[in-house]
This record gives sequence, C-alpha cells and structure tokens, in this order.
Amino acid sequence: MQFSIRALAPEKAKTGCLVLAVHAAENLSRAALGADKAAQGALRRALSRGDLADKAGATLLLHGVAGLGAERVLLLRLGERAQYDAAALRKALAGLGAALKTLGAKDAVLPIADLAVGGRGLPWTVRMTVLGLREAFYAFDQLKTQKKPPAPALAAVTLAVAGAPVTLQAQAALKEAVATADGADLARTLGNLPPNLCTPGYLADEARKLAKQYRLGIEVLERRDMERLGMGALLAVTRGSHQPPKLIVLRYAGAAKSKKPLVLVGKGITFDTGGISLKPAPEMDEMKFDMSGAGSVLGAIRALAGMRAQVNVIGVVPTCENMPGGSASRPGDVVTTMSGQTVEILNTDAEGRLILCDALTYAARFAPDAVVDIATLTGACVIALGHVATGLFANDQKLADEIRAAGEDAWDRVWQMPLWEDYQEQLRSNFADMANIGGRPAGSVTAACYLARFTKKLKWAHLDIAGTAWRSGREKGSTGRPVPLLVRLALRRAGRGR
Ligand code: BES
Ligand code: MN
Ligand code: ZN
Repeated sequence: MQFSIRALAPEKAKTGCLVLAVHAAENLSRAALGADKAAQGALRRALSRGDLADKAGATLLLHGVAGLGAERVLLLRLGERAQYDAAALRKALAGLGAALKTLGAKDAVLPIADLAVGGRGLPWTVRMTVLGLREAFYAFDQLKTQKKPPAPALAAVTLAVAGAPVTLQAQAALKEAVATADGADLARTLGNLPPNLCTPGYLADEARKLAKQYRLGIEVLERRDMERLGMGALLAVTRGSHQPPKLIVLRYAGAAKSKKPLVLVGKGITFDTGGISLKPAPEMDEMKFDMSGAGSVLGAIRALAGMRAQVNVIGVVPTCENMPGGSASRPGDVVTTMSGQTVEILNTDAEGRLILCDALTYAARFAPDAVVDIATLTGACVIALGHVATGLFANDQKLADEIRAAGEDAWDRVWQMPLWEDYQEQLRSNFADMANIGGRPAGSVTAACYLARFTKKLKWAHLDIAGTAWRSGREKGSTGRPVPLLVRLALRRAGRGR
C-alpha cells in the first residue's frame, strides 16, 4: 500500500473512498463538516438514522453522495471528543483498516488533521495512522495454498492536509512511518514463520539479505567462533539441537564514525522446548515466537536504514534452538560464561538469559553509548504486566526515562520494574558464582538481575517482551512490537524528537 501526503480539499477529492471522522453523534470533524456542506446535509441525514455505532472504530459506508468528488464516503467513529486519546485513535484505525479491506476502492483519501489527539502534533498523527493501517493490512498467508479472502483492492492512501504547502516535518514523518511499518512487518513475519523454517541459519540469511539491500555491515559468528570466545552459556543452550547456532552482528552507520552506537541485543531462540526441563505440551507451539527479540532488532535496523536515519546502530543477535536430547545440557551443569563468571544451570528452560549474557559481554566491544536487550524472557512478566506493557529494567535511570518516553511517543508502551540489589540473593548457588534461576517470586526481576551481572560496565536496559511480542488464541500472531519503540528511541536519542 502506497501512502502519500498532500494538500487537498476533501469535498473535491476524486477518490474511490473519502474517509470522514465523526466523534459522537452529529459531532462532525472539520473535513466532515465541509463535505456535509458540499453534499447539502446528506452526511448529517445519514448519521441521524443511527446506523453508525457509537464506539471508536465503527464505520458507515455511503454510496453516491451528491456534491462530492468521491465514489464512496466512509464515516469513521472516533468516539466521544472528551475521551478521545491515543488508545481511541488506535481502535479507530483498526476499525478503519478492517472496513477498507472489504471495499473494492483502489484508493482512499483521509483528512489527517481530524484524527489529531490533543497534545500531539501532526507528525505523530501521521505515524500512528500509517502504522495502524499497515498493521490492519498485514497478512501472513505465504504458507496457505488457498488465498482467501482475496487480497484487498486498496493500493493507495492519501493523507489530506488542509492548506498548502505540506510541511517538511509531515513529509519526514510519513517516510519514517512507512519505514517503521516495513520494519514491524519484517519482525511480524519472522515471528510468524514456523520453527522448522525460521531457524538460526534462516535468521542469519535474512540479516545477510538486509545487509545487501541496505549496505549494512554484517558478521555471523559460528560455533567455532563462540568456542574461541568462551561463550560457554550460549553453547550450553544450543547443545541439544541439530541446528547450528549463530551470533549475528548487523551494523547500520548513518551518523559520523565518532558517534558511539546504540547496540540492540535480541534474544533469538527459534524454538524453546525448555530443553531437559521440558515445557508442558499445551501452547508449546507459541515458543516459535521466542525469537521475537531478534526479529525486532532486525526490524528496527531495517526501519532505520530504510529511512536513512542519522544514527549509528548495531544489532547483536544470539540465535539457537533450545532442545532436549542426548547431548543437551542438564539441570545441575555448571558452565563458564564469556565474562569468566560461572553459572549453575538449575533449569534449562531459563535459556534466554544464558544466550543473552554472552551476547551482552560481546556487545561491550563496540564501545556502545547504550545497550538495550529485547527478549521474550519470562512468563512471570506476562503475569505482572499482561499484554499491554513491555517490562523495562535499567541500570541507568536516564536511559530508562528515554525508553519510557519513546514508548509513550510510539504508543508501544513499557513499564519500569525494579532492579534492586535485594533481589540478587535469590540467584545464589552453592556450586557456582550464580544460578540461572531465582525461584518463583519476582521471576522477571531476578531474570533481569541475572543479566545485570553481565552489564555492570555498560549503560544498559532490558525489555521483557514476553507479553507484548505476540497474541494468542484466534488472532494468534506476532505484533511486531517493540519495533516502533526502538525506532523512536534511536531517533529521539539522535535529536530527531518530533
Ligand atoms: N521463552 C520463555 C519465556 C516465556 C514463557 C515467554 C511463556 C512467554 C510465554 C523463557 O525461556 C522461559 O522458559 N522462562 C521460564 C523461566 C523459569 C524457568 C525461571 C519461565 O518464564 O517459566
Ligand atoms: Mn525457556
Ligand atoms: Zn525462552
């Protein structure tokens, strides 16, 4: 779907579908008022019949409205003006996307200013709109032999602004939003791919493709490199698998060499059976999403490279499978990490922190400005925060505040949890420097505390996306989160705030 932004009078727009926003009953947006006038009150008359449901995202399709240039008018309910906020806009966009997919219209015109939320500027509205519509139009059907329903006809969406000229800021926001949606789509597709196809080798090949397409630096470390570096924890996780492990390093340099990079480290377990500490069977298929951190890192880099952002970002992706088997790690095994610290593996299902600790030690060599790891790390995080907020942990409050603000901005929100020393004692081991689990209480905190032992010299934050990376049930599928957050974070840190 092509997006553009243009100065355009809605009532004159020659389009397959003119989208007009309505708050509560009879409360027309600016563009809708203008169009209603041109149509001699036809819109108000239609609304007065009560066919537009009173909730954000409801739509009403009108054909043959005289006085307008459009073939169709799609009225879109935003909900009460007093309650209208980012959440209502997200709902409205989901409803709009669903309605647009069912139409035969080849293009649509959407007066963008009418979707604006108080306190947020036009660039923000542009980003939210493009990301919301692209999410609604995302489909993963490459493995279905019968493509039904048929692909939507809609090929172009014009965001109409009143009064020329369109600002450079708005144009930049559109470019950013489209690139971010491309990145989120990549993360979604990598997440949705089945674990027999999306293997560590596949992720490495995808990274190589990105490197070629966007002229990125790439390096893929193999098992022998990991052995040479002493990555005993990462190697312990991959032992039970027949798939060779990889450690992908992808570099995007959009700023001066002297600018220290932001390093993103993504957990890339392409399937998590739990290993010898085997998981129960129900919903185990969802552990194909255990590489979502890796997918979000590749997605964020694709987005930043696609928009030619003036930032330096390095993605570090440790990736392998966690399988049981004759050579798998056992509960009780003690391994030496790349940092030199020893770990007693009390539960082989706490494998994410094992691959991450070596990747985080490795990340230090890039002299990073900051390191952010992204991981589907703990079921406990889902219990704590559900599917709304990503868990945030940081050893630097300024970095934590930046991430929280970027999440608000991208509407890809996080909630900070403590990393206090008090929790560290739960990780004590009688046989090694630490255990890899800290018991049931505060499971996501002790997982973060474990990682903190490997990031003492870094400005570091950890995002636990166990609850936000995918949806379960009927709508099962990857969300593409937190690509929008990561992109905003990188841009805001480079002073490209709004
Ligand atoms: N990938 C899982 C975390 C997970 C589980 C995310 C369910 C989303 C839904 C992780 O590797 C894991 O198994 N964690 C264990 C840790 C425990 C053994 C300390 C968990 O959360 O149960
Ligand atoms: Mn696990
Ligand atoms: Zn896992």
